[in-house]
Amino acid sequence: SLSVCVGHNSKYWVNVRSHFVLQMVRYAQTAAVPAPEPRIKKFQVYRWDPDTPGDKPRMQTYEIDLNKCGPMVLDALIKIKNELDPTLTFRRSCREGICGSCAMNINGGNTLACLNKIDTNTSKPTKIYPLPHMYVVKDLVPVSVVGQLIVSDSCLPQQDGLYECILCACCSTSCPSYWWNGDKYLGPAVLMQAYRWMIDSRDEFTEERLSKLQDPFSLYRCHTIMNCTKTCPKGLNPGKAIAEIKKMMATYKERKAAAS
Ligand SMILES: *[C@@H]1O[C@H](CO)[C@@H](O)[C@H](O)[C@H]1NC(C)=O
Ligand SMILES: *[C@@H]1O[C@H](CO)[C@@H](O)[C@H](O)[C@H]1NC(C)=O
Ligand code: SF4
Ligand code: SF4
Ligand code: FES
Repeated sequence: SLSVCVGHNSKYWVNVRSHFVLQMVRYAQTAAVPAPEPRIKKFQVYRWDPDTPGDKPRMQTYEIDLNKCGPMVLDALIKIKNELDPTLTFRRSCREGICGSCAMNINGGNTLACLNKIDTNTSKPTKIYPLPHMYVVKDLVPVSVVGQLIVSDSCLPQQDGLYECILCACCSTSCPSYWWNGDKYLGPAVLMQAYRWMIDSRDEFTEERLSKLQDPFSLYRCHTIMNCTKTCPKGLNPGKAIAEIKKMMATYKERKAAAS
């Protein structure tokens, strides 16, 4: 049994040595660089679980040391969920502004949490709400708007300044016309999709699409307030796309009048 122990011991010593070296390195580091002052930032987060009887919407405050957190608001939310409160609920997937699932209202503007840098001024709390005027499933999760937004399941043509639309719904949920007429007015996200189709020369359904937009609500509830363009986290201009559709519609109506 002694020989077995020797084998173990030699391995043990290697471990002890590397551990010791590691400790020395750590010690040298801590001795040379004093630990940075913590930068405690408050995050006030909307909480509500409609499925829990009697639960009322409230703001809950979490404190995060920005030195130990990634730069984006989504990093802070993930840190809160992993380290402080596993019950906090929000959607995210790609973490790089592509899937659109982390859309929420941060400090008053609709945006993607994964593209939104934390304001590092620690004397101001960051306020996080779900997208406004939507039914809330829980906490920061609104009822899925994407299903409602999908106009077609085929591949969309890619055009500069348009193809990057990720259907996050930040624009539609910032549009007062959509708040009050969301059942009839299609809203900027959907109209942006429709426009992408219409300006594609391969789209043989443009006439059909225009004919569907003729009623007074689908398109004309847009009063060009431009909240949509201001808020789009991908820097797109749905307000302009809608203006272009209106122009196409005018020509379409003239053509139809001439034909009849
Ligand atoms: C941080 O925010 C506070 C409160 O709004 C403000 O008074 C202060 O000037 C800000 N500091 C910096 C560095 O911007
Ligand atoms: C949109 O515009 C309205 C009125 O113009 C304004 O009160 C509101 O705060 C804006 N909402 C968003 C989310 O930008
Ligand atoms: S236009 Fe912008 S805000 Fe609207 S759905 Fe597309 S990416 Fe989101
Ligand atoms: S420009 Fe039109 S779609 Fe955009 S926010 Fe204003 S009313 Fe809504
Ligand atoms: S997590 Fe996909 S867009 Fe933010």
